[in-house]
Amino acid sequence: MTVQQCLRQQEAWSKARGPADAEQIAPLDRASFPGSHSAGINAGNGGKNRREFLTYIWAGTLAAMTVGTGLAAYQFLYPRRPANEFGGRFFLGAASNLPPVGSDPKANVDGRFWLVNTEDGPRAFYNLCTHKWGDMWIKYRWDPTRARFECPACGAKFSLQGHYIEGPAPRSLDQFMIEIVTGRKVVAKTMFAEDAIVSPGVPSSEAEIVVDTGTIIEGLPRTASPLLKGYRG
Ligand code: FES
Repeated sequence: MTVQQCLRQQEAWSKARGPADAEQIAPLDRASFPGSHSAGINAGNGGKNRREFLTYIWAGTLAAMTVGTGLAAYQFLYPRRPANEFGGRFFLGAASNLPPVGSDPKANVDGRFWLVNTEDGPRAFYNLCTHKWGDMWIKYRWDPTRARFECPACGAKFSLQGHYIEGPAPRSLDQFMIEIVTGRKVVAKTMFAEDAIVSPGVPSSEAEIVVDTGTIIEGLPRTASPLLKGYRG
């Protein structure tokens, strides 16, 4: 056999064996070699998936915050009850319109509350006695000569701060939540401490006073009153 014949023979063998070798070897190369084109594509997908995952988390958080803020703004701007109607919010204007501290309370007929300004902050007392006369809830009144609230039905008495003094009432006066608003944001509102109802502080005379007649805060039991004199049922 000549050299040329020998080369042709080798070329023929190579052509005959080539496809079979490729089938056996190529899969091993793609699966096992980390630097292969195939591994590179997988790493790229992993990075892309992580980025997409973080993007979804971030977008979801942003959407939840946006919805929450939108809901709060909507509830503030469009409350369930119309403004200045009983059951809704009463916008009383700037804190400078509050009665002077310690002065007689102001009746708000539509809102059914007495507005009081005390050393501890403004309060809005629901104008119904906390004692029920038969089946009826009775409106109490302010007695300027004695500087206290008195119920005309069976004589319960309460101080300017709403504390129970005497009579059959089971608790001090109920009150509506007060909110202090600055720049359309509620910055303080009536809160509960362990054994007290805490009026919101007023940060400035421009702060707006809002009384929420949809939120009633029950007075504390008469036994918790600092002015308790006695009980006559
Ligand atoms: S109804 Fe007010 S004290 Fe009885």
